[in-house]
Amino acid sequence: MNTVIYQIKDTIEDAKSLTEAGRIIREGGLVAFPTETVYGLGGDALSPASSRKIYAAKGRPSDNPLIVHIANTEDLEPITADIPEAGRKLADAFWPGPLTMIFRKSEKVPKETTGGLDTVAVRMPSDPVALAFIREAGGYVAAPSANLSGKPSPTSAKYVIQDMDGRIEMILDGGDVEIGLESTIVDLTEETPTILRPGYVTKEMLEQVLGTVDADRTMMEKDTGVAPKAPGMKYRHYAPKGDLVIVEGDSACVVDYINEQTGLLEKQGEKVAVIGTEETKMLYHAEIVKSVGSRNREETIAHTLYRVLREFDDMDVTRIFSESFDTTGMGQAIMNRLLKAAGHKVIHLCRSTNSD
Ligand code: TXA
Ligand code: MG
Repeated sequence: MNTVIYQIKDTIEDAKSLTEAGRIIREGGLVAFPTETVYGLGGDALSPASSRKIYAAKGRPSDNPLIVHIANTEDLEPITADIPEAGRKLADAFWPGPLTMIFRKSEKVPKETTGGLDTVAVRMPSDPVALAFIREAGGYVAAPSANLSGKPSPTSAKYVIQDMDGRIEMILDGGDVEIGLESTIVDLTEETPTILRPGYVTKEMLEQVLGTVDADRTMMEKDTGVAPKAPGMKYRHYAPKGDLVIVEGDSACVVDYINEQTGLLEKQGEKVAVIGTEETKMLYHAEIVKSVGSRNREETIAHTLYRVLREFDDMDVTRIFSESFDTTGMGQAIMNRLLKAAGHKVIHLCRSTNSD
């Protein structure tokens, strides 16, 4: 298949391209598009055939449900069986934006889209290109992240092209995304709203609106023996080609350990890379050292993490050492993704008593 790639700089100037993209969706084809979180791989959410195509293009198991993207709050009602009060409050507070909510679905949504579930995940993104495209497409666009299954989600069109060229009809290139990690997912079908996937909208932010919010206990842990409520969270996601390990402890211990290990491995001929921060990158001796951002500005780390993992893949890195991050605020989303990418391999080093 020939994949058409359009650069979208402005929703008005590029209106014709967006109309063409919308037509592809309405005719049953697939279009990758930018959102503020990561790029999505879109198809008609109300068409079973389109959803099947999405699974095929991604190489994704079809028991892993898709998020339905809408462009107007009023479009929520027809696809849900009921909208709890908490859903209305969260929509008011965070839509359009990086929050996905799970509702009981209406008949309108085919089981192919929801991976066989009676519930549906819905999100209204804030990216103006995404909103214009969804409207042109008829209002309901099912979209997982636009990566091949098992790869880090794409944060720029370059990586969508790498994974999807020849597999879908069109890619809308809207430049680099703003956030860089997937949306927060909250399940509203339980008595207490429950976070299934952490993201830019933190537990604290949700609690300010709703009071008590739970978090799925499988979110940060390995092998709890309990199945995660978001089926997608059980797969080893976001995996770089190189073997990734997280090193946790006092900064000085972490730097010493990583320098020792990378020195040894480089001698053995391995291609070794380090994920550091603005505060530490100059302390590492490995040949490849990348900063993911500043510890004082967690949003910079969220923004850069997937890109760095992809760059290591491009360089055929075989071993990766990463620093660890606090799990407060957005740090929870960052560590959730990093732990998955590392298959939960963490090395715990010394902690001096006066450290926090
Ligand atoms: O930021 C995002 O959410 C991006 C952009 C494109 O919007 N999309 C995204 O989609 O990350 P995806 O398919 O890569 O991840 C969706 C997650 C999966 O873990 C899936 O299992 C879960 O949402 N999910 C979808 N529908 C669900 C449902 N009805 N119940 C529980 N989990 C659901
Ligand atoms: Mg994904």
